[in-house]
Amino acid sequence: DKAGHKHFMSKEIAEQPAVVARAIEHYLQGSDIVLPGDGIDFTKIDRLTLVACGTAFYACLTAKYWFEQLARIPVEVDIASEFRYREPPIPNRTMALFVSQSGETADTLAALRYCKEKADKIVSVVNVTTSSIARESDVTLPIFAGVEVGVASTKAFTCQLTVLLLLALKAAKARGAQSDAELATHLSALQNLPGAINVALGAGDSIRRTARKLSEARDVLFLGRGLMYPLALEGALKLKEISYIHAEAYASGELKHGPIALIDKNVPVIVMAPRDSLFDKTVSNMQEVMARKGKVLLMSDSQGLKEAGDDVWEEIEMPAAPEIVTPILYAVPAQLLAYHTAVAKGTDVDQPRNLAKSVTVE
Ligand code: M6R
Repeated sequence: DKAGHKHFMSKEIAEQPAVVARAIEHYLQGSDIVLPGDGIDFTKIDRLTLVACGTAFYACLTAKYWFEQLARIPVEVDIASEFRYREPPIPNRTMALFVSQSGETADTLAALRYCKEKADKIVSVVNVTTSSIARESDVTLPIFAGVEVGVASTKAFTCQLTVLLLLALKAAKARGAQSDAELATHLSALQNLPGAINVALGAGDSIRRTARKLSEARDVLFLGRGLMYPLALEGALKLKEISYIHAEAYASGELKHGPIALIDKNVPVIVMAPRDSLFDKTVSNMQEVMARKGKVLLMSDSQGLKEAGDDVWEEIEMPAAPEIVTPILYAVPAQLLAYHTAVAKGTDVDQPRNLAKSVTVE
């Protein structure tokens, strides 16, 4: 049932304020983050290894910033199909964490089995709690996204991020890496997030107009720095999956190291840049693009859009939000942009060519 929407993807994008709120409510009891079963003792863990495929891999890349910055735990992130065949050494006091919407992705499951008897703890973040990955983990953290039908993952991604951020905050508290006041600030940022996502959804009409122009492009670049870098990767994946436009993402700082050669008036460059601690750096990358006649589509808050000046091609305005939650918030315009571009192109949004919802073969 599409609940009045033209596609499941659009329904699932719209559900995000509610499902993200549900995930937060489930784990947050007062100011305590409560995990199922015996939970995880983060004072006994020295490093994390995060493994997944596709969109879930980008959720892991985002989580690396959170675990390292908030909890000061070193993190490695791997694509499951690379991890399993590389057979990496797993040092003592390692927690291995697997993220999967379906819980049945063949490579992710094989990576989990490789870690058995090697890692101190096997944790999974899944949507389908009866899945193989859930069953074979020591601790399973459900994301509460509800059934996701669209092949392009949307609400599962934001719910994965929400649960991973809660887990990073749990680790930060256990390890004394954040003060009580800092933790309280982060938790209130999370609690305000569903409301902010709702406001972000309000940009839908203006994104639809921008998407009509974007649908004429053959190639698109996404740029982001820090927490926005994994988001740029996810934005590019979403766009290519359903609109079939060639899209690539780079860390903004990598622009000069190659991709700037691609810039001309035919390649829109989508810059994801809230007015955060790295904004000025990203603006200077943007100016390098514009100086070469590149068309910049800037996603930022009102302050960021104002500071970026009048030369940007298109703007998408997001509500201002604490830096820590911006990846969850900026997932929304990235999804809407891909969605409306695909609709403008007339592709099969919910069942894109060549793709399956769950990749159970290698
Ligand atoms: O079920 P999983 O989360 O393990 O699936 C992983 C990927 O196959 C999945 O995220 C895929 O990349 C989606 N089509 C992304 O939209």
